[in-house]
Amino acid sequence: MAKKSTKNANYTVPGLTTEQGHGVAEILQQRLHALNDLQLTLKHAHWNVVGPNFISVHEMLDPQIEEVRGYVDELAERMATLGVPPNGLPGAIVAERTWDDYDVQRASGVEHLAALDLVYDGVITDHRDALARISDVDPITEDMLIAQVRGLELFQWFMRSHIESDSGVLENSAARTEKDAAKAVKRGRIAKKK
Ligand SMILES: [Fe+2]
Repeated sequence: MAKKSTKNANYTVPGLTTEQGHGVAEILQQRLHALNDLQLTLKHAHWNVVGPNFISVHEMLDPQIEEVRGYVDELAERMATLGVPPNGLPGAIVAERTWDDYDVQRASGVEHLAALDLVYDGVITDHRDALARISDVDPITEDMLIAQVRGLELFQWFMRSHIESDSGVLENSAARTEKDAAKAVKRGRIAKKK
């Protein structure tokens, strides 16, 4: 295997100092890990959903995965444009991420959607935080992240619409972990049947 180089380029985009451009790209590295992790997690849910809503949830997830994979590519190429080599390797994701693996396996559609709602919470919050940190320095990268947040928030709304009551309350609103979110929805649905 080729020796991995982590050395930054000696340039960045015109109009930014090298330090500014590389600083922005370094903030993007963690966003690259988050989006790579998200597209894998969404595929995992696509494969592990069971029950009466199988086909609607299974098929709803694939266009999201395609879109997120597009974000991954766009973001990695922005890092390279800014002069910092993007790291898309699985070992780096696991070593550098600040979150745990998604912890729902075989489960119903609403259970996965309730858990994925929490996953989206984390990715979107951190994307917005990265936006706030780079917005004064690089409006071009800011523009890319704004578009990605808009897409991610739309997808999160798709998930939430499945677990929202007609009074506007999310069934997973008290949950702090994905497992608890899945359990809360399951409990709620069983209670309604009784
Ligand atoms: Fe598939």
